[in-house]
Amino acid sequence: MDVETILITGANGQIGSVLTTALRSKFPDKTILATDIREPAKADGDFMLLDVLDREAIRKAVADKNVRQIYHLAAILSAKGEEAPLRTWDINMEGLFNILEVARESHVERVFFPSSIAVFGPEAQKQHTPQNENLTPRTVYGISKVAGENWCQYYHDRYGLDVRSVRYPGIIGHQSLPGGGTTDYAVEIFHEAIKTGKYECFLHADTCLPMMFMDDAIRATIEIMEADIHDVKIHTSYNLAAMSFTPEQLAAEIKKILPAFEIQYKADHREKIARSWPESIDDQDARSDWGWQEEYDIELLTETMIRELQPKISV
Ligand code: SER
Repeated sequence: MDVETILITGANGQIGSVLTTALRSKFPDKTILATDIREPAKADGDFMLLDVLDREAIRKAVADKNVRQIYHLAAILSAKGEEAPLRTWDINMEGLFNILEVARESHVERVFFPSSIAVFGPEAQKQHTPQNENLTPRTVYGISKVAGENWCQYYHDRYGLDVRSVRYPGIIGHQSLPGGGTTDYAVEIFHEAIKTGKYECFLHADTCLPMMFMDDAIRATIEIMEADIHDVKIHTSYNLAAMSFTPEQLAAEIKKILPAFEIQYKADHREKIARSWPESIDDQDARSDWGWQEEYDIELLTETMIRELQPKISV
């Protein structure tokens, strides 16, 4: 029997790069095939150039490599997506359709699709936003995630494809940098605090958003993919939460460890996007259906980020 392969799209990205490493250590007997449209800075395992807009190339990779699972992470995020709405729609939707189509016609058993708090719009309940809230997103990224969630449900119901999904909050990790998101400030702030002792934040001091430490996000991703099929009851996407905070609250945590740290606020276009999203999320279904439980709060996240980044960032 050929070795089974797990394929990751967008594997050079903020989540993809960390997920690839985590899957390699969890499944040493499987091939973990990282793919992206660009070569990685450093490859430490199987890597293939793959454009998610090229269905034929995806089909070939799936057939040649005995791919059984796909984590489809390639997408354009919220802030960057606004620069080129139609291009973002094409990449986010065509990419997903290509993955879903190849998966349903092949031996792929399971697909992961990342959704986001960006599916919610300004009309949604701000605090403890429920799973089944009306979805009225204002960014092209959010619109593509709502459509993507519904298509995932469609492929599940119509073709029996096992697609699993969570709505990620902002993800903060020391292993990688985000690119083009509205929650990116919460990673940049740590790099600047260590490098220069200062940070100019592109959101207002009191703009509260749901956030999660990278290790929790990776664990949630693998846990939902490894959950018993009967425990995964929502086939659009699960609300997922860990903590919520404002830039001011995060800066105060950083100051506890780096007392000289200074923050200034100069909100830009991303403020409007952030204000259209929930402040906190009700993720009771993820907790009761497949046992979700976060490990990191703002304090542990801050300590860990500074401890891990300090030696890496030369002053
Ligand atoms: N972190 C993402 C963004 O800011 C939200 O899913 O775009």
